[in-house]
Amino acid sequence: MLSYQHIYHAGNFADVHKHAVLIRLLKTLKGKPAGFQVLDTHAGRGLYDLSSEEATRNREFDTGAACFMDDPAPLMADYLSIVRKFNPEGELKVYPGSAVIAREMMRPSDRLICVERHPGEFLELQKALGNEPNTKLLQEDGFKALVDMVPFPERRGLVVVDPSYEIKTEYVDLARHLQQAWKKWPQGIFLIWYPMLEAQGHRQFLTALRNTDVKDVMVSEIRLHEPPQEKFRMYGSGVVIINPPWPQDTLDALTRHIASRLPVKAFPDVFWLDNQQINPETGVIKL
Ligand SMILES: C[S@@+](CC[C@H](N)C(=O)[O-])C[C@H]1O[C@@H](n2cnc3c(N)ncnc32)[C@H](O)[C@@H]1O
Repeated sequence: MLSYQHIYHAGNFADVHKHAVLIRLLKTLKGKPAGFQVLDTHAGRGLYDLSSEEATRNREFDTGAACFMDDPAPLMADYLSIVRKFNPEGELKVYPGSAVIAREMMRPSDRLICVERHPGEFLELQKALGNEPNTKLLQEDGFKALVDMVPFPERRGLVVVDPSYEIKTEYVDLARHLQQAWKKWPQGIFLIWYPMLEAQGHRQFLTALRNTDVKDVMVSEIRLHEPPQEKFRMYGSGVVIINPPWPQDTLDALTRHIASRLPVKAFPDVFWLDNQQINPETGVIKL
């Protein structure tokens, strides 16, 4: 059994990055009256208690979500209203994860499917979302669901893929699964998050994805000058959107804004993966 537990990292700068983009995508989907579906393939536990022993070990939220609690920027208004709903007194005590954020943003008639394989996380997810309307929780393999459950019957919606990358091969396998899912649903919107770590696994992922048939891939990255938590050594956060429903400027503005509010120097970068070059010798994308 793999041991990753997101609660150690809940609310960190990468969560702000991925969840702000998630919210922007959901807002766009809600712009039309037709119902839609969200499939969250690696849902986590839904709600994270930031006073827990795990979350307070490194207090990663102090250099992430906590820096946005009084952010007046309209770009972050939806993000803040959801985080504040779970923290009505103003102090950040509970952090909503992707599954809870999705349910909060969706209309009761929109359908949410959350997949989480870890038994402990799944139990918590059931507590957080077990009684919500039009919400299905499945304890199974998220990568299998990614391929098997598309396209959605509604033909509208979003697939969120936020793996824990505990196995080295997961980066390349993910590109293969995305290729299979995209072949079944080339019009689908997919949001994928990746960490930027010393081992550079994300470059393998981007290179492998660049070498598939998948088209229209926009990437947003935030790189930190120095990782705030030495132990985790994550120096950046990346978000891939396949078939983004808006132009590059939209993601540019959001990425730049988030980077500008972080307490350490951070470098935002947004690009189309399709336009990047592959170095034939190293296989690495020249960024
Ligand atoms: C980065 S966390 C997800 C965080 C979540 N998306 C959020 O925003 O709150 C990754 C999750 O994937 C789960 N997981 C790992 N391998 C999985 C698999 N093959 N299928 C489904 N879930 C898996 C882990 O237990 C963990 O909860």
